[in-house]
Amino acid sequence: MKKFLIIANWKLNGDYNFINKNINLIKKKINNSLHFCDLSIAPPYVYLNYINNYLKNTSISLTAQNVDIHLKGSYTGEISINMLKDVGVKYVIIGHSERRIFHHENDNFISKKFILIKNNGLIPVLCIGETEEQKKQNQTEKICIQQINDILKISDINIFNKTIIAYEPVWAIGTGKIANIDEVQKTILFIKKYISSLNIKIAESILFQYGGSINYKNIDIFLKKKDINGFLIGKTSLTTENFIFLIKKTEKIISLLNVS
Ligand code: 13P
Repeated sequence: MKKFLIIANWKLNGDYNFINKNINLIKKKINNSLHFCDLSIAPPYVYLNYINNYLKNTSISLTAQNVDIHLKGSYTGEISINMLKDVGVKYVIIGHSERRIFHHENDNFISKKFILIKNNGLIPVLCIGETEEQKKQNQTEKICIQQINDILKISDINIFNKTIIAYEPVWAIGTGKIANIDEVQKTILFIKKYISSLNIKIAESILFQYGGSINYKNIDIFLKKKDINGFLIGKTSLTTENFIFLIKKTEKIISLLNVS
């Protein structure tokens, strides 16, 4: 059984003060109490090592928000996959709409990152999803498949083995507009079926997350859908008490579903 994976994407937020309070509280209230969920923290690069030391001897893992496609060399300002491994990173987020929009990352570049991460033993969290305009034009499924196919242009389906696909409708990110659960389920199922048509085992090995305006009040229905195996959370992860409440609630609901 896949554990439900919650990743806290802090984006461009946090400082030592926040980390000391936030991680200490999470460790105190959460660590060792999770049996059905896994928790991972994605802080800005500069805090990865500091938080890694905090998280030693806990079950909480570390996620990076980005990586460069080069392993080393004259690439000012970049961070390599080996550097991320050195500081204990497990997952790497790529394809986030904020990087596609603000840093003009295209599908080919994102695909190269996906393959690099996978081939170097870390787990890519590939963000996909449609814009509001694309949604209005009923292009959600087409866009998601296109974003997956871009990786398949330069690799085969095996590259998706045990990876993570985070469905994050662009219009739902940071807006408070959460996607309709039936539409999320339909989209994730569509993607899963598409990958199954290429390789059933690989499709089964992928963990599907939802991201976009998740908070502790709106998670219940998402947790009841078996095709949604995790959340990628922005804003709510910055309010420690609410985030801890969300994690505990998720763990409780999933444990009850597993018993019944
Ligand atoms: P919000 O939870 O703030 O909508 O952000 C979602 C997200 O972009 C996670 O990567």
